[in-house]
Amino acid sequence: MKTGNKKWKVAVVGCGGMGAAHIEALIDSGRAEIVSVVDIVGKKAREYKERYNAKRYSTDYEEEVRKNDIEIVIVTTLPSLHHQIVNSALSYDKNVLCEKPISNSLEGAMEIINAAKKSKGKVLIGHQLRYMEPWQTVIKELKDGIIGKPLVMRMTGNQQTFGEIWEGQKRLIIDTSPLIDCGVHYVDLMCLIVDCKAVSVYGQGINLDPLLPDVYYNYGLLQVKFADGSIGFYEAGWGPMMTQNAWCIKDFSGPKGSYSILYELDHNTPDNPPTVATYRLQKRLIPSTTCLWKDVMVSEKIITKNTEKGDSLKDEHNFFLDALENDISLEKYLIGAYESLKIVIAADRSIKENRVIYL
Ligand SMILES: NC(=O)c1ccc[n+]([C@@H]2O[C@H](COP(=O)([O-])OP(=O)(O)OC[C@H]3O[C@@H](n4cnc5c(N)ncnc54)[C@H](O)[C@@H]3O)[C@@H](O)[C@H]2O)c1
Repeated sequence: MKTGNKKWKVAVVGCGGMGAAHIEALIDSGRAEIVSVVDIVGKKAREYKERYNAKRYSTDYEEEVRKNDIEIVIVTTLPSLHHQIVNSALSYDKNVLCEKPISNSLEGAMEIINAAKKSKGKVLIGHQLRYMEPWQTVIKELKDGIIGKPLVMRMTGNQQTFGEIWEGQKRLIIDTSPLIDCGVHYVDLMCLIVDCKAVSVYGQGINLDPLLPDVYYNYGLLQVKFADGSIGFYEAGWGPMMTQNAWCIKDFSGPKGSYSILYELDHNTPDNPPTVATYRLQKRLIPSTTCLWKDVMVSEKIITKNTEKGDSLKDEHNFFLDALENDISLEKYLIGAYESLKIVIAADRSIKENRVIYL
């Protein structure tokens, strides 16, 4: 496989948190050049041009994505805008890396799938976890049945946030609920692990912020049942009132044992950016259901990642750029993004209609 000889010419649309993370990871990898940065807010676009030494900036993505010197468009706006920006780039045969979720609606997601069929450009949706080394190990081992099946999959993504970060999350909540926006990451992993369809979903959501209108919710949970009998649980809560206790539970149980990812960051408060992330992959395999603790085979693998310079995105970027350089089809990944969106959107509907949704 060819890798890494070319320097791809990139436009980034959306100069917010994820825009910066993608730019920093790409610059650090040496595989791309940031030609253009685009934001509807001119001040932000200009600031990113200067900060990252881009060739130019713009407030109009339509104008920018059609330009001849752009080969890849990275879409890092809020989800409700994804489909129109991605489709515009695809209509000019540009390659696109779009942040997850693929869209905030199934109609928007289907429009992207259809536009991709007509374009010479390739699209990848940024489900970054599935490309990361710790998760790749976990997915493979669980899929291969290391703890048997069916599985109980418990995941949480509660974030205690304040100030600017919380203000940004509130804007995101109004655009797309945490259960859809963040849930799609973890439901995507569940789908990869069980490798079968979801059959039913139940969701609950509640608004704990007195200033946020009650049509929105800043805490949501979902339960999903898969065709092989496995069940998944995910909860996401954002804001200053969330506890830090359940911010990152990643637990799996099966007939032959349990598997956990214990995730640690080297910071003490939400305001203090971490530099190192440690993943402890902890397995407890039981030889039989009647065994005693002394018979349990306990093992731990530790993987450390530098969290600076967008390190968590580099595996995803390498996967995408390798696919472009080797003309590998990304269609099945696009369908995967649609399938996980379908489940989290059903959970959101379940909240609104107060009933179980059968898929
Ligand atoms: N992969 C992850 O772990 C992860 C983490 C956080 C967010 N995200 C995703 O990344 C995306 C962006 O999130 P964020 O936190 O960076 O948001 P953000 O609010 O920080 O940034 C979005 C930017 O888009 C700009 N924008 C709005 N309309 C635009 C338009 N028409 N043209 C150009 N720019 C426009 C805004 O001005 C803003 O600067 C979302 O889809 C979110 O779900 C992914």
